[in-house]
Amino acid sequence: MFAADKKKITKGQFFTKTAYWLKPQIIDFIKNSKCNIAYDPYAGGGDLLKCAPLYGITRTKGLDIDPSLGWEINDGLYKIPHIDNAIIITNPPYLSNYSAARKKLLGEVKHYFENSKYDDLYLIALAKMLEAQDYIVAIVPETFINSSFSQKNRLHSITILEENPFKDTDTPVCVVCFDKQEKNFSKVKVYKNTESAPDLGGLESLRPVVHKTLKVSFNVMNAWLGLRAVDTTNPENMIRFDFKEKFDYDWAKGIKTSSRLLSVIDVNIPLKDRQRFIDLCNENLQELRKQTQDIILSPFKGNMRNGVRRRRLDFYTARAILEKSYFCLNGDMENEQLGLL
Ligand SMILES: C[S@@+](CC[C@H](N)C(=O)[O-])C[C@H]1O[C@@H](n2cnc3c(N)ncnc32)[C@H](O)[C@@H]1O
Repeated sequence: MFAADKKKITKGQFFTKTAYWLKPQIIDFIKNSKCNIAYDPYAGGGDLLKCAPLYGITRTKGLDIDPSLGWEINDGLYKIPHIDNAIIITNPPYLSNYSAARKKLLGEVKHYFENSKYDDLYLIALAKMLEAQDYIVAIVPETFINSSFSQKNRLHSITILEENPFKDTDTPVCVVCFDKQEKNFSKVKVYKNTESAPDLGGLESLRPVVHKTLKVSFNVMNAWLGLRAVDTTNPENMIRFDFKEKFDYDWAKGIKTSSRLLSVIDVNIPLKDRQRFIDLCNENLQELRKQTQDIILSPFKGNMRNGVRRRRLDFYTARAILEKSYFCLNGDMENEQLGLL
């Protein structure tokens, strides 16, 4: 790997080239903070500070670890100096320890992970920002929503951006705004672009739970139930359960035991009930997608052709949907026996 590429990855040097992230609710948050300095501890190209006039601030301060960028030098993954009346507005470096190890770059960033409970640099960065300042606006991977970040109670809002604000990475992102007050998740607003979605408390209450009431095994080649676990770019061909033969895939090629995008599921359903079971699985999935506006499904790189973010169904959630559908199927069978269907 070239030294320049290595630096780009380990320092997360993907700069924010458009002000697409600056939605009206984020401008309101910045203005309501009454801060008069925009502060980027990971300033990079300075792109977030350049748009300060758009959010009504004239004073700016940037820091970075890379001397070639011309800012005051500071290691913001170690400590961020406090500045009175400043609001952090940033896009920190993103890099998971798994991804760093896979790219053989762990040596460069290992010391940060060793001193933290988090497994991604952006989560370490968020914890440092919250230590330093009361108000924070940060563009971070959308996986933040499903992360176990322990200070989500200081969130004010989360805005999912469906359009990518970067020129050179397609990581799905959201903008998180934090203030100094600890609060209940029901007070944390969630937006998709500019539209309101259920609040964080509402979303968490809709998160499916596995009760281990049904034996289910994924990636069992001779099983009968197929799952496309990721949306394709065609909005007509989204995540779905079906008989495995109904998928346009040559099963003779097999699938890896690690496959997370396509799976064959071993679940014991009588032959005569299988179509009904599939229908129930898809109905329950659709209901979950509708109620949560897709937000609790993991984001997947790129959008569908209609501009809506692609999603992936993780196996835990798939298992919960299978259990719920099995429960519904048994309800149907009881009603059938009682002559109610
Ligand atoms: C994703 S870029 C963001 C740049 C800028 N916020 C923007 O959006 O235009 C991340 C920046 O963090 C800097 N950086 C990486 N590790 C850092 C560290 N430990 N301390 C301070 N800055 C760091 C990188 O050099 C890079 O400029």
